[in-house]
Amino acid sequence: MNWGAIDRYAKSLIKEAGHKIRISFFSTIDIDSKAEANDLVTNIDREIERFFIRRIKNDFPDHRIFGEEGFGDEIDSLEGIIWMLDPIDGTMNFIHQKRNFAISLGIYADGIGMLGYIYDVMNDDFYHAFKDEGAYFNDERLPVLENTPLEEAIIGVNASWVAPNRKIENEPIVEMVHKCRGTRSYGSAAMELAYVSSGRIDAYLSLRLSPWDIAGGIVIAHEVGAIATNLKGEPPHLLGQDTFIVARPGLHDEILRNYIKLK
Ligand code: IPD
Ligand code: CA
Ligand code: CA
Repeated sequence: MNWGAIDRYAKSLIKEAGHKIRISFFSTIDIDSKAEANDLVTNIDREIERFFIRRIKNDFPDHRIFGEEGFGDEIDSLEGIIWMLDPIDGTMNFIHQKRNFAISLGIYADGIGMLGYIYDVMNDDFYHAFKDEGAYFNDERLPVLENTPLEEAIIGVNASWVAPNRKIENEPIVEMVHKCRGTRSYGSAAMELAYVSSGRIDAYLSLRLSPWDIAGGIVIAHEVGAIATNLKGEPPHLLGQDTFIVARPGLHDEILRNYIKLK
């Protein structure tokens, strides 16, 4: 497999898709809700996913595509080469803010993350990684992460998980929020993963993410030594929804051990 050629191909496809998203702001955007009222999707999410699928199916007919909007393949095993795509991660931000959303893509071979991309479309910031070859922010190589104590860490966590909820004991999370240096919530899991990998925040956790939210970011995170697991400490689930945490090495343990009590 010529991974260098696939890497160049994927990068140019993502840049082209980013351009399409930027010019979409000049036309009317149709907004729908999915299963839940606040789970939004637009015609642009769908068009961008279809654009990727058309190209990939044409140029790599034996690769499979696992896309959020469902135009790709039915995926129930990780065999072969799978492109895991979120055409717009942070759709609510795309609609309300016209910024703070990303294209997220991970390319896996038999379940192993080979290439990972997160493109912050409005800032034209590109995070990417090639297995064992390092991770990059634009053309700058990202350094390997060192541990940071919780007291000096910025944690990416959504307020829903700090308030009482059905999935996790919130009191230890409240304690973590008090103890850490600060918290942030950007509304795009992929961007939050990119921020952990580039040292802008120190950990990010969520109680419910899908494979396409995290597939690209996991490849990037591994290359800088960040630890990505579910909240039980197991490898991230790439075939369905699960809990998720990515953090600097020691901090990952500290958070899981002291502050995560799943219900
Ligand atoms: C969502 C974003 C959000 C996360 C949600 C995801 P979408 O993706 O990543 O930050 O909290 O769980 O579903 O729907 O905007 O692609
Ligand atoms: Ca998403
Ligand atoms: Ca999406």
